[in-house]
Amino acid sequence: MQTRPFRSVLYIPGSKARALEKAMGLPADAIIFDLEDAVAPEEKASARVLLAETLQSRDYGARAKLVRINALSSQWGAEDLDVIASARPEAILLPKVDTATHVEDLARRLDARPETAETQIWAMMESPLGVLNALSIAQAPRMAGFVMGTNDLAKDMGCRFRPDRLPLLSALQLPLMAAKSAGIVAVDGVYNAFRDADGLRAECEQGRDMGFDGKTLIHPAQLDIANEVFAPTEAEIATARRQIAAFDAATARGEGVAVVDGKIVENLHIVTAQQTLARAEAIAEMTE
Ligand code: COA
Ligand code: MG
Repeated sequence: MQTRPFRSVLYIPGSKARALEKAMGLPADAIIFDLEDAVAPEEKASARVLLAETLQSRDYGARAKLVRINALSSQWGAEDLDVIASARPEAILLPKVDTATHVEDLARRLDARPETAETQIWAMMESPLGVLNALSIAQAPRMAGFVMGTNDLAKDMGCRFRPDRLPLLSALQLPLMAAKSAGIVAVDGVYNAFRDADGLRAECEQGRDMGFDGKTLIHPAQLDIANEVFAPTEAEIATARRQIAAFDAATARGEGVAVVDGKIVENLHIVTAQQTLARAEAIAEMTE
């Protein structure tokens, strides 16, 4: 089970020195240092150098550090990897992943360098073909997480943005199921209207209820809401403790089930309760 928190996953354009500095003090569980869509073509070369230097000289603490390179089929991808490899990235986030072969190609390139011996791969789920191939992609070498690319998905599907995201539900759930099957992380797509706190909260709650580990974010103003929504509440933690205590007591009496708040508690509920406590503990460690 995934216990490292990924409640808030903040995109930072690799070209923006000020945002790169600022991020060292922001309460993000993870950062996506972006060289792809947030960086204009004329800035690609300077951004990758700035980012490699920044990652080598700055301390982002416990935050997970992902670098989103350009697709390896693009004119920038291979050089992004060359420059970023020197900074020993914790994970490379590969965009436009349509098939497992895209991940296998990157994995071979990482295998070929000692600096990237430990580097994990994350994949953007942002095309209909990628979504349909989600299971084989999730099972590919070095895979550690999916990031939903909902803007690209909506574009390719020709579907509309709606507050309930009904047109995107299958495209969200298929990669989510693949991620769960493979035991990797899955984080939801961005909420574009970054000044709309209520809309963001509603979408975070929807993603959380579906089973996502967290949400990708584009602006620091979105951090607190994602951190709050994707964390277990005090009430959930208290219930988890009571379920475990009641189940232990039932087991001691030789019984296989307990009842808490009028609801049955079985083995499987204890697994969920323990996960809730483990997540709460991991979040507490992260925020220490
Ligand atoms: N990460 C870290 N810091 C950020 C940030 C981010 N994603 N977005 C903004 N900031 C910082 C700014 O540098 C600014 O810092 P300062 O006040 O110390 O100078 C502060 O937060 C306030 O920024 P603000 O003026 O409100 O935002 P903006 O109008 O300059 O920029 C965006 C708005 C959306 C362009 C910007 O947030 C952004 O580039 N987001 C990331 C986009 C991205 O990565 N997209 C790709 C994936 S979808
Ligand atoms: Mg994209």
